[in-house]
Amino acid sequence: MPEDLPTPQRTDDEVKEAVARGEIIESVEEMSPGYLKALKRLMLVQADTELMSVLCYQPVANTAPTLDMRISASAVVQDEAGHANIMYRLLEDLGEDKDQLVYGRDKHEFKNMHFFDYRLHNWAELAVANAFFDRAGAVQLGDISKHCSYGPWRRALKKIDIEEKFHLRHGDLWMRRLANGSEKTKSMLQDAVDRLWPHGVEWFGPENRQSTHVQDIIDYGLRSMTNDEMRYEWYDQVIPRVKDLGLDIAAEPDEDARGGYRVEYQPNWDEVIKRFKSRGPNIDEYMDLLKASHGDIFNGKARA
Ligand SMILES: [Fe+2]
Ligand SMILES: [Fe+2]
Repeated sequence: MPEDLPTPQRTDDEVKEAVARGEIIESVEEMSPGYLKALKRLMLVQADTELMSVLCYQPVANTAPTLDMRISASAVVQDEAGHANIMYRLLEDLGEDKDQLVYGRDKHEFKNMHFFDYRLHNWAELAVANAFFDRAGAVQLGDISKHCSYGPWRRALKKIDIEEKFHLRHGDLWMRRLANGSEKTKSMLQDAVDRLWPHGVEWFGPENRQSTHVQDIIDYGLRSMTNDEMRYEWYDQVIPRVKDLGLDIAAEPDEDARGGYRVEYQPNWDEVIKRFKSRGPNIDEYMDLLKASHGDIFNGKARA
């Protein structure tokens, strides 16, 4: 942490009271140690998720079947790289070093959403990933952009949110085209939905309303929704769309079920968390790609 970085000047209770009154926090001095820690952790999850999505989406963009498709997928990848850059830059204001965060960490220190440790195999999977996971991101970030008590992050999310909406519409558009294409494209799409759906169910993590960490996030005004509330919002947006395309998905509307859907896949969260922590199958390859060219120019530094 740079020597001249201001330090938090308030207690955790003082900050909680201030944000409950509607105060927007603009600087580290206005924070408490607990607020700063919770904020950095949440922002790092977003920064790392944006960065790893670049590495996951890029290979499919590079092998897109037409020039138009290559351009649209590359635009998504470029946006994600820009989002990562914004988030690491914001973390610098909180005392972190961008180069160290991007290039100096071990795979176990990255906090990205687990799916981006995996590879996408084809265009249908990119379409479903955009429709499922960029939408999941939009649910999370939409809540933060409306409710977050940290001003700089909230303002940055206005631009990011608009671009995420483009990504999820890109996914919706291509899912529709593939569903209405040939038997072959529809079957590819169904396979992609089957593969990615369980990752979507797991995306938001276990409901942890009781955890002090989640309660702190909500009390600090960093977010307003719990994991289950976000998951149910996502179900509402995803399940009817998939069914409307004539695809199978193991989830049925059910007024008596929590969240309004009876979902066949119910994660064993202990096993899922263990899998999250041990990292996914392609993370080593992504780490190599990320670090491969670092230091090639500017005499070993990423920046002149
Ligand atoms: Fe993004
Ligand atoms: Fe995105």
